[in-house]
Amino acid sequence: MEAAKDWIVDQGWSRYTADEHAVWLELYERQARLLEGRACAAFLHGLDVLDLRGEGVPDFARISDRLEALTGWRVVPVAGLVPDAAFFDMLAARQFPAGRFIRGRARLDYLQEPDVFHDVFGHVPMLTDPIFADYMQAYGQGGQRARGLGQMHNLARLYWYTVEFGLMRTAEGPRIYGAGIVSSAKETVHALEDPAPRRLDFDLERLMRTPYRIDDLQALYFIIPSLETLLDVTQRDFAATYERLRDLPDIGIGAMLPGDEDIGVGEATPTHCSPVGGAVAEAD
Ligand code: PHE
Ligand code: FE
Repeated sequence: MEAAKDWIVDQGWSRYTADEHAVWLELYERQARLLEGRACAAFLHGLDVLDLRGEGVPDFARISDRLEALTGWRVVPVAGLVPDAAFFDMLAARQFPAGRFIRGRARLDYLQEPDVFHDVFGHVPMLTDPIFADYMQAYGQGGQRARGLGQMHNLARLYWYTVEFGLMRTAEGPRIYGAGIVSSAKETVHALEDPAPRRLDFDLERLMRTPYRIDDLQALYFIIPSLETLLDVTQRDFAATYERLRDLPDIGIGAMLPGDEDIGVGEATPTHCSPVGGAVAEAD
């Protein structure tokens, strides 16, 4: 079996062109504006402390030094998709594999393979949060175990519905933390404001029985009560859950079970906002 380190390449940061840096900045500006009031506080804080705007495509060594000081994670460049075994080894060692190429200007919104904007802008800010940082490492360890138990399909769904497309509750209303959402302008608005997709409270077993679609905006999101709860629930031993799942059928993406409650789009926007600046017009 190839070792994780065999998949790590050189980022070749000095080879990015001026146009590639400009694409990063354009995507950055658009998403940062859109995510104000939509992404969770941990994500927005991560963007800031890592200075992910910078002057273009980030140098992985530079952001890794900052990230490592915060939570012990580093971002490592890879040439493309990494096989499961190596991917889990990297996560277990607090290394996040990231693609180094950036999408072209003609395809700002359409991506078949994750690029540096998805991988770094989308995933890395959450790794500055100590709880999420622990969750990702635990996922890597859990992945190795799930492979051994033949339950990868169930565990992959957990990654999909949390790390990629997760929403969380906050006092101000649902907020985004999933990388597939925050790195996409369309999915950002769709996830929070479109009435079409269903939004269900996070339930580990329910989630692990639900397939996902990779070719379109999501039709279903799961909302976690908090990162603490996510880590808490997933730190339990999955052996018994996996055993039950062997005998239970999958639940179609569009299906509703008794007890499923769709959290409406009305609830997805803040019910009460504190006034920005709090200024009241003064009569003169
Ligand atoms: N608790 C899981 C297990 O027993 C491991 C895991 C942790 C998986 C966190 C995913 C996320 O296999
Ligand atoms: Fe991703």
